[in-house]
Amino acid sequence: MPREDEETKNDPHADYDLSKAIQPASGLRQGLTSYGDAHFSLFLRKAFIKALGYSGDALSRPIVGIINTYSSFNPCHANVPQLIEAAKRGVQLNGGLAIEFPTVSLHESFAHPTSMFLRNLMSMDTEEMIRAQPLDACIMIGGCDKTVPAQLMGGISANKPILPLITGPMMPGSHRGQRLGACTDCRNNWAAYRANEIDIEEISAINEELAPTVGTCGVMGTASTMACITAALGMMPLRGASAPAVSSGRLRIAEETGANAVSVAKAKRIPQEILSKQSFLNAITVLHAIGGSTNAVVHLMAIANRHPELHGVITLQTFDEIGRKTPLLIDLKPSGDNYMADFHNAGGMLALLHTLRPLLHLSAMTITGQTLGEVLDASPFRTFPYSQQIIRPLSDPLYPSSSLVLLRGNIAPDGAVMKASASKDRSLLSHSGPAVVFENSADLARRIDDPDLPVTKDSVLILQGIGPIGNPGMPEAGLIPLPRKLAAAGVKDMLRLSDGRMSGTAGGTIVLHISPESALPDSPFGIVRTGDIITCDVESRKLQLEISDEVMRTRIEERKKALAEGGWSERRHKRGYRGLYERSVNQAQDGVDFDFLTAAGPSRVGTN
Ligand code: FES
Repeated sequence: MPREDEETKNDPHADYDLSKAIQPASGLRQGLTSYGDAHFSLFLRKAFIKALGYSGDALSRPIVGIINTYSSFNPCHANVPQLIEAAKRGVQLNGGLAIEFPTVSLHESFAHPTSMFLRNLMSMDTEEMIRAQPLDACIMIGGCDKTVPAQLMGGISANKPILPLITGPMMPGSHRGQRLGACTDCRNNWAAYRANEIDIEEISAINEELAPTVGTCGVMGTASTMACITAALGMMPLRGASAPAVSSGRLRIAEETGANAVSVAKAKRIPQEILSKQSFLNAITVLHAIGGSTNAVVHLMAIANRHPELHGVITLQTFDEIGRKTPLLIDLKPSGDNYMADFHNAGGMLALLHTLRPLLHLSAMTITGQTLGEVLDASPFRTFPYSQQIIRPLSDPLYPSSSLVLLRGNIAPDGAVMKASASKDRSLLSHSGPAVVFENSADLARRIDDPDLPVTKDSVLILQGIGPIGNPGMPEAGLIPLPRKLAAAGVKDMLRLSDGRMSGTAGGTIVLHISPESALPDSPFGIVRTGDIITCDVESRKLQLEISDEVMRTRIEERKKALAEGGWSERRHKRGYRGLYERSVNQAQDGVDFDFLTAAGPSRVGTN
């Protein structure tokens, strides 16, 4: 393979040739540090990198950066060191030079107040480090929920060649002969414990088995959803979505990604050219077919809105329209019964995309330079009984259409999202009932198990104050727990509404991402009161507070006045990252990104 500057490698003067140090450049010559003398900048850069022992030959190769998101606080990324080693092997066997560097790492359970609060920080870190350093391509190793969207957002904005590499799902565990997996079974068993169906000894034993290996959650939660979506976008090998974190196959995917990175660097294949509207339509089709996480709606909006030609082109309506013609095919928790390891053994994304072929845009480009149609043609897949048990044929879906639906109405004029396929009581998909309102998470914690709470199984539980600003990072608290007295009486599901998010591993009849969020003074969702009648009808996509327009206007004006008199501000923090977050974050329907980072904002998107 020809080296990056083969023609100059034996000419010592060429090393510091000013004309070669001027943009656009590649390898070490690109993005020089500003000292006012480009010759000197390159001279100094070479002096310092030689301290690491690199030869001139090594430094003449295409440089592939590898983002290291290992953290001892992130068990979902515990295999990153092995992946780096395998990816480096792939880079260097193909004539490139691999150089790793760190960025922020986020784990769901170790980030306060939420990992979502920090997603945009990670995306800024990713974007700026890719932009700042002399990389010809960059392998981005991510896996846990917010890391992959953060890396895609940052990578698209930086617009250098990027190659996502996923850490992969964990294996399922076992308790008394029953398979278990984080985190659908975390929630199911916790609910059973709250309902006194299992005791403290059993829930403790279950806790030992929920995450039996390293890797991302083993069900179709947000991490697995984002992995499948990244493959559907054409940004990585299809097997890369599902190979277990602890498998040798995962290491071979890393090596393949390293090899791909060298050819992508040479071809200068950049994400804003690879990704098109068709790529996103394919990703949304896959999202519905896998019964993916509602979080992916927010992330995909943020990712699409980083692309100058797609900002505003993909909307919540796009998700609903595609959902109406896309069946749920994957029998995985929380919509079905199985685990990511089963999906992988059934053929994974290759089998799924072959099944979905009539619904896909086959002309969409992929990272390899081939179209999606060409990738599928080159990788035929023959179904077998087990594959069709996990990945159902179009003729025998798990759920006929619209596993994720967009709802609108007078309390959600900018939209709300429900994972209808995860409802545990389908009668609730068309339901009217009296609201029981909780003002925020603290209020919920205080009163939900109060024996005197005026609640029945027909009530509609409302949790306000957990939107993007209201509770920074829009926590995954939308799975409002059932009041203990109802759970103990055998109630398994209730209609629940919030402006927050829900873990992709959770299930129930849950309306999320209500926008505008209740923290905003003119939010219709913010004026719902206990006893109001709420109607939700999935068939007609309606979410309505049964009061007149006039009463709603009056209540909003009263609330605005009261908040103003109290000196209340929804953007009250001034300092540091939280201040930046509150000043800049947009609403759920736009992706909860910072307005200045979107392609429409005053950003540097599309420039180098
Ligand atoms: Fe990392 Fe679930 S906690 S993927």
